Amino acid sequence: MIKSFGNKTKVAVFISGRGTNLKSLFYFSKKKKSKVEICIVISNKKYAKGLNFAKKQNIKFQTYTFKNNLKDELKVLQILKKKNINLICLAGFMKILSKEFIKRFKGKIINIHPSLLPKYKGLDTHNRAINNNDKYSGCTVHYVTPKLDSGKIILQRKVKIFKNDNAKSLKKRILKQEHKIYPKALKMILN
Ligand code: GRF
Repeated sequence: MIKSFGNKTKVAVFISGRGTNLKSLFYFSKKKKSKVEICIVISNKKYAKGLNFAKKQNIKFQTYTFKNNLKDELKVLQILKKKNINLICLAGFMKILSKEFIKRFKGKIINIHPSLLPKYKGLDTHNRAINNNDKYSGCTVHYVTPKLDSGKIILQRKVKIFKNDNAKSLKKRILKQEHKIYPKALKMILN
């Protein structure tokens, strides 16, 4: 359970790309009685598409390359502290955070992954599921620990793999479900 200060949990969303999960989390945060406030978006890519959405919605955002991981992580930690962030949601964030960073936010970082973990940790999950002739794939929201894609599972959703699926078509269907389960998972851990 995430402890928050005041009546809303202050969330930072970390992205690297399109930011469609950021969108779904943001719209969820704007619902009546929502217990969530998205206070900042952090991106490791200056031109991540998701930043346009942040701009449009007046969400504060910062970009750091994370090339010098430690230096940038320290800067990020500072800003998260300044904004009293209680929870980090990774949403297509393609950098691996250091052990130290994760420890500082122990139990307060969650991620969405496009497979039914513990199957297919890492990249290229859709192709791997198809090539393995799996009947189902799906998506998982889980806590982040120093071991990649291995933290406790919060919520999963299965998606059927059809005979004529390719990585693109499967990805599209799974993404749709991601947009549903990420807010749901947030709700679960905040209640
Ligand atoms: C999603 O498929 C997510 O599961 C994975 O990266 C993708 C991010 O998509 N970790 P978006 O940037 O939220 O559209």
